[in-house]
Amino acid sequence: PFLPVVLCGGSGTRLWPLSRAGFPKQFLCLTGGESLFQQAVQRLRAMRDDSGCRALPPCVVSNEEHRFLAQEQLREIGLEDASFLLEPAGRNTAPALTLAALFAIEAGHDPVLVVTPADQTIVDEAAFVRAMQAAIREADTGSIVMLGVVPDRPETGYGYIQAGDGGREGIRDVLRFVEKPDAATAWGYLDQGGYYWNAGMFVLKASVWLAALEAFRPDIAQGTATAWADRYRDGAFIRPDKASFIAVPGESIDYAVMEKCPGSGFPIRMVPLAAGWSDLGAWDAVWNALPRDEAGNAHQGDVLATGSRNTLVHAGSRLVALVGVEDLVVVETPDAVLVAGRSHSQAVKHIVDELSLRQ
Ligand code: GDD
Ligand code: MG
Repeated sequence: PFLPVVLCGGSGTRLWPLSRAGFPKQFLCLTGGESLFQQAVQRLRAMRDDSGCRALPPCVVSNEEHRFLAQEQLREIGLEDASFLLEPAGRNTAPALTLAALFAIEAGHDPVLVVTPADQTIVDEAAFVRAMQAAIREADTGSIVMLGVVPDRPETGYGYIQAGDGGREGIRDVLRFVEKPDAATAWGYLDQGGYYWNAGMFVLKASVWLAALEAFRPDIAQGTATAWADRYRDGAFIRPDKASFIAVPGESIDYAVMEKCPGSGFPIRMVPLAAGWSDLGAWDAVWNALPRDEAGNAHQGDVLATGSRNTLVHAGSRLVALVGVEDLVVVETPDAVLVAGRSHSQAVKHIVDELSLRQ
């Protein structure tokens, strides 16, 4: 059996003003009826591994503030047996995964963890399941497994995997992993070929994660273990000790461990994923993932447009009208309206930074 670990403690600031501190993007229904968080859980719940085993009840790692939101969204999809590991403040994904690994080991076994973010969409579920089954099988032998997507642009918001030769069933060695390179480096990888985007999903045994973290970042490993030792359990909600968790250095899985693995003795592999994957990081990516009309417009809500091309409009409460504009993002909510150039969508986070200074 495998344990789905759903990381959903991010803040999603680049999708402001729909994504808010109290209601971040992973809980929004951006592409259809279900939120990104619900989709992430469903995708793993629906699948079986190679030996026909279903997923264990998921382990959700989120911010304390969003516990009821997460719990309610799981109830909506008929899931009542999840465990919620609640962080008093985000320390990025390495401590979050460590809590999940300690939780898994504590439960008496050492399952393969299928670690998934909660901010993605996948079109081809069958291809996803096939890749995931191969990843679980490989992870069961002690490997750290990443899923790799063929890149189509020099995106600087992703990690890049340099893959070695194809081995058994298309499983590749990871020669190098570089998290969020600068634009020139990313262009270089695209030119050179043989590089994949890290899809942000990690498949590995709980004990393997703890050993790798202990090797590369003993400070994070020990700090998180201390916070876990003094945890407090309240039904499905499990809270690590607040003061010790806040003292843990914040770092992502990618920087803390993945970049350091290749060549270190910890076997790290990649399974290619061709399943229509997208990370809904910013508004441009949402536009990309949504169905669009012939003029390239994706409009939600009460929208009228004439002579406009390649626009994304979300009209939440009022009518929004566009006349003769191109490559624009308009997001209307009751208390804030965003108008942004589509190619500038990464910079929306600067607005949120300024807003937080105002408060
Ligand atoms: N519990 C918890 N606590 N979850 C967190 C925290 C935290 O402190 N910080 C982020 N998360 C969650 C987010 O909600 C998201 O679902 C997931 O962890 C990944 O975090 P992001 O902040 O979205 O990472 P990223 O998109 O910049 O980069 C990662 O994903 C890319 C693909 O989408 C990396 O793994 C890249 O290498 C990868 O290419
Ligand atoms: Mg992300």
